[in-house]
Amino acid sequence: MQETVPAIAVAGAGLRGRAYAARIRATGAGRIVAVAEPDPVRRARFAAEHGLPPKRAFPGWREMAAAGRLADGVIIATQDAEHAEPAIRFAGLGCHILLEKPMATSEADALRIVDAVERAGVMLAVCHVLRYTAYTRALRALIADGRIGAPVGVQHLEPVGWWHHAHSYVRGNWRRSDESGPMLMTKSCHDVDWLIHVMGEVPARVSSFGRLSHFRPENRPPGAGARCVDCAVEARCPYSAPRLYLSCLGDPAREAWPLGAVTDERTEAGVLRALREGPYGRCVYACDNDVVDHQVVNMEFPSGATCVFTMTAFSPAAPRQTRVFGTSGCLEGDGVRITVRDFVTGGTEIVDPGAAPGGGAFDGRHDHADDALADAFTAALAGGDPAPLSSGPRESLASHRVVWAAERARLNGTVVEAAPQSPARKAR
Ligand SMILES: NC(=O)c1ccc[n+]([C@@H]2O[C@H](COP(=O)([O-])OP(=O)(O)OC[C@H]3O[C@@H](n4cnc5c(N)ncnc54)[C@H](O)[C@@H]3O)[C@@H](O)[C@H]2O)c1
Repeated sequence: MQETVPAIAVAGAGLRGRAYAARIRATGAGRIVAVAEPDPVRRARFAAEHGLPPKRAFPGWREMAAAGRLADGVIIATQDAEHAEPAIRFAGLGCHILLEKPMATSEADALRIVDAVERAGVMLAVCHVLRYTAYTRALRALIADGRIGAPVGVQHLEPVGWWHHAHSYVRGNWRRSDESGPMLMTKSCHDVDWLIHVMGEVPARVSSFGRLSHFRPENRPPGAGARCVDCAVEARCPYSAPRLYLSCLGDPAREAWPLGAVTDERTEAGVLRALREGPYGRCVYACDNDVVDHQVVNMEFPSGATCVFTMTAFSPAAPRQTRVFGTSGCLEGDGVRITVRDFVTGGTEIVDPGAAPGGGAFDGRHDHADDALADAFTAALAGGDPAPLSSGPRESLASHRVVWAAERARLNGTVVEAAPQSPARKAR
């Protein structure tokens, strides 16, 4: 058991890296001792927030790794295509790793990560934040405790939301599968992992349909400009960037996200400048996006249970909704509360796991799960024991493999064997 507060380095001081580090600073459960961040403004801000000397603020993760093992653990919160190499490198240095999802952009790289951490004997947790909510714990326990008998079917909806989809998957960082990955990986790997987690088994077979239906040049309305700030029909467009981003001003949570991805300025003039010059002001019908805007995945679990998962852009941005159908009851969760129906008594019970007020799984901090994950990582480091972490490298690899299998199924129009060797059910 380590006596001291664990030392933690951060690779990528963007939205995610900064949020985890802020939690660690606030709780004092870890010491942030180094940062790697190429953006000089972000790097300086992070160094100031954590009192880091210039020699501990590096222009990139490679430079930080070249300085040797500076910390017990490293948080890797770079963009998707830059997860595998730093994870392998820091594992080789003997650092435990908190790795943002997706763990890698290819199955081969995900396997390389798992090999590297197992060889090095370090802990690795992928940031499947939804596992860490009180809501998830309650829903999973209801199933595990047999409250609905044996689960035989799941209906799960991920309502991404029209403006969120336009922000991240049409104009933003996850709009192109060649730069980050398919939507099912960059967004819905959370859902696939979550479904595996609550059902307690890995799907054996998957099929999938979906496409980019709407955010395409042929749907651009007559008179639309290349940018919202010059557009004659902007006021009638659901995807108006000025409407979305100007409305964030004055609201600290929405200034942090989504506005924080657009600009660091917090004035109307600053936002409009970013929309005139940057990617987030582009017409949603004139971007270089190619990821789907709606997708379904069907899964069959080894037990015979089935799951229908729907991801859609065309909804309010809301918590996930889930129905689980069991042999002696069923449950319905709206991301905040769970309604359980007992087939014997006919009675209904409402389980309220106590989501944060106004929160739920879509409160920008995922119902405080980001904080809970940071706490779990520091606890694992302090104790030298992965027990506080909900999943390890093999479990993340298994859930990522289901995502890749489903994407192959969608692209090839086939049913794909997802998990030829399902890991044993994790003890609950
Ligand atoms: N777990 C979740 O719920 C969740 C939610 C959103 C995003 N993400 C994932 O988190 C990751 C980061 O997302 P974000 O929104 O914080 O993005 P971001 O762009 O705000 O942050 C990434 C940061 O990495 C920096 N960077 C680039 N190259 C680097 C290098 N060589 N060394 C060090 N830093 C480098 C960038 O300058 C940037 O500041 C992505 O992989 C994303 O998919 C996860």
